[in-house]
Amino acid sequence: MKKGILKVLMLVLSIFLIGCGGDKEKKDGGQTKAPEKKIIKMSMKFVDDEQTAKTLHEVANKINERLKDNLEIQVFTGGQLPIGKDSMEQVVGGANWISVDGINFLGDYIPDYNAVVGPMLYNTFDEYLAMTKSDLVKNLNTEAEKKGIKVLSLDYLFGFRSMLTEKEIKTPEDLKGLKIRVPNSQLYMLTLEAMGANPTPLPFTEVYSGIQQKVVDGLEGSLMTIYGTKIYEVRKQVSLTNHLLGVSAITISNKVWNELTDDQRKVIEEEIYNGGIYNTSETVKLEKEYQKKLEELGVKFNEVDSVAFNKAIEKIYSQFPKWTPGIYDQIIVELNKIRNK
Ligand code: G3P
Repeated sequence: MKKGILKVLMLVLSIFLIGCGGDKEKKDGGQTKAPEKKIIKMSMKFVDDEQTAKTLHEVANKINERLKDNLEIQVFTGGQLPIGKDSMEQVVGGANWISVDGINFLGDYIPDYNAVVGPMLYNTFDEYLAMTKSDLVKNLNTEAEKKGIKVLSLDYLFGFRSMLTEKEIKTPEDLKGLKIRVPNSQLYMLTLEAMGANPTPLPFTEVYSGIQQKVVDGLEGSLMTIYGTKIYEVRKQVSLTNHLLGVSAITISNKVWNELTDDQRKVIEEEIYNGGIYNTSETVKLEKEYQKKLEELGVKFNEVDSVAFNKAIEKIYSQFPKWTPGIYDQIIVELNKIRNK
């Protein structure tokens, strides 16, 4: 008799448990909860008026639209959240985080990336964009993965960087004694030093007031930066040294990346890739527009003695003990292949 009651109880219990198990959604106090949405923060130095920020807002919107139930990318511009070295630390530490910042910060982990964006290497955006598709750079991306960093793109360029000062610069001599703001990067420090300046690292958010308070005499940056951040309001001479290419690395933690579903990874990759192409075409178009607008705003553009500046930076490529021996020569071989295609 007792056995019969026990059997009935077991049956009722198992029907109840099957009912619960069939429903994968979590229940909380009788309420059905939607599956958890993954929130990933994207942090960048660019202000909302700059094209890279505009493009990445759009990229995030498209990703969020396509993955609306399960993933959301939240964009933080203008250094509202940690940027540069601190942003890369979030990535390496495995946070739900996408860093958008100079390739030099990726170079802190894999030094050869700095060689790929060294001074006076590229004549055109296309040359650089072909380099990011080379085996040489693909191998660096594989090395980065071993250090916990998944490189999503190296293609978000924002133009060649030139000098923005009070006086006209023609030769390295003209930069003597001038305190020029640079991002906090050894590559930038050594490059500007070789060009004759006194490089001063400063977060971009402090440059405007830094010029007003004479902490620095000027800066170096692209037309996209000069126009987009309104820094032209405090300095009016652009000297076209075109010494380094302004370009961002978009990175995410490799661990976070591997936890995403195939679909999430596909959508993120597609939208970031397409955004990169759009960003370049906008940059090409806007650089011309911005130069005109800047001239109307009283900014003067000067040609420089590029032979003298090229000669001045030659020594740079032997100043990085952490670079793989021969990396510069490998880059030149790759670049010649690109140019001969
Ligand atoms: O918003 C600032 C950006 O355009 C340039 O920053 O640090 O590369 O000079 P940075």
